[in-house]
Amino acid sequence: MTPPGPAPPTPPSARAPASPRVVEVPTDDGARLAVEVHDPPGGAGAASPLVVLAHGFPAARWLWAGVLPRLAAAGWRVAAPDARGFGASTLGGAGFRRAPTVDRYADDLALVVDALGAGRAVVGGLSMGGYAALAFWRRHARRVRALVLADTRAAADTPEARARRDELVALAHTPGGGGAVAATQVDGALGRTTRGTPERLAEFRAQLGHPDAEAIATALRAMRDRPDATATLSTLAWPTLVIGGAEDVLTPPGTLRALAAAIPGARLALLDGAGHASAWERPAEFATTLLEFLAAVPPDP
Ligand code: MLT
Repeated sequence: MTPPGPAPPTPPSARAPASPRVVEVPTDDGARLAVEVHDPPGGAGAASPLVVLAHGFPAARWLWAGVLPRLAAAGWRVAAPDARGFGASTLGGAGFRRAPTVDRYADDLALVVDALGAGRAVVGGLSMGGYAALAFWRRHARRVRALVLADTRAAADTPEARARRDELVALAHTPGGGGAVAATQVDGALGRTTRGTPERLAEFRAQLGHPDAEAIATALRAMRDRPDATATLSTLAWPTLVIGGAEDVLTPPGTLRALAAAIPGARLALLDGAGHASAWERPAEFATTLLEFLAAVPPDP
């Protein structure tokens, strides 16, 4: 009798895709979105419920680096895109450059959900990403399974904030402007605990680096012109987690409390030792809190 030989190699189509991996999602206006995808162990991949997380300004998907593997290890498929123009994503067509909107960032998140073959997703965002998550809810409500609003606000910019955006847009258009604008964001982004830890402060500065100046300027204009979502929050009928840093000075605890109070049934979590970049500053605590919330999200019918 012939002894059995080695098992034939698994054909590529039957193998679970590598995890984590970066997939490229094209948009209809010529942008290419780089999306980092983490699958749960065990190859369940596309069958697992999806969480999409949008980063804040002027970061990129690295903001979620400590959160993504923890969610995947707990059984969630997680996708973190670089917003158009940031990280490895390209900015896209003239229309967005001429009239940038947070709605476009939200529509990009919907493309990510589509590309991963999910009908609905838990959609979350930190600060600018939270503006996109709120816009996602406004524009793609049927695709929402739950919302995660981190270190963000529903209100539109005040006149002073709009004027500050315009100053930063002008700074972005100077030589080296992308890096110069990023440098202005560091102090506000980090809580006093992180700012008091020189290695972490240096790491954050290095991660921010020198974002693309045009991406910076378009994002600032999109945020400046975003609509006020406050009046609609009482109609938000999805499970919602409002989460943020107890040391956040840009969207302070009072702002997060008011946001949570305005959304029926929303949970609120304030993380000690974290500022505005809470998911990066306290990834383990952020992930644990998020997982507790996700455990109570009803499954898809
Ligand atoms: C962010 O972290 O995304 C920014 O603080 C948002 C903003 O400038 O409004």
